[in-house]
Amino acid sequence: MSQPEPFADVAALEAFLELMGRTPSSEAEGLTELDHGLQCAAELQLAAPDDVELQVAGLLHDLGHTVSHIRDHGVAGATLVRDLMGERIADLVALHIPAKRYLVTTDPTYRARLSPDSIRTLALQGGDMSVAEVAAYDAEPHGQAGLDLRRADEAAKTPGRVVPDLDYWRPALRQFARA
Ligand SMILES: [Fe+2]
Repeated sequence: MSQPEPFADVAALEAFLELMGRTPSSEAEGLTELDHGLQCAAELQLAAPDDVELQVAGLLHDLGHTVSHIRDHGVAGATLVRDLMGERIADLVALHIPAKRYLVTTDPTYRARLSPDSIRTLALQGGDMSVAEVAAYDAEPHGQAGLDLRRADEAAKTPGRVVPDLDYWRPALRQFARA
């Protein structure tokens, strides 16, 4: 798959999100990639109402799906947005894969909540974490917010659910964008 250039400005990012609105989600039946991101952002509005930056990261977390393989899509998405949206949003996008592995390893109830597709991709993404990997995750500055994003991700797979649309999020995207 070709690797696009990191987004140079917010208009390029918004155009990419609009394209995701015409791309079926690879994580859930009956949703577009954009629907899934919008539902994730909406879940984070409930879980972390004061953290708009985290909510934006939720909207953007699967940008890498359309450009990379399942195992690498967190890092790929982070690379696309780091210059434009800043370190914290990029780190949160990258963390959504290790956060899943962390929760599977440390929360006995979490694995039961994973969708069938999410269980299938878990092995590709490295499966359970080692003790050293758990400790490394605990040392991540945005690790706790990354867990919130991951839980929202799992709760963002409902076909037909009505949530705020892309237009609602455009001011927040512009608030955090550097260009
Ligand atoms: Fe996702």
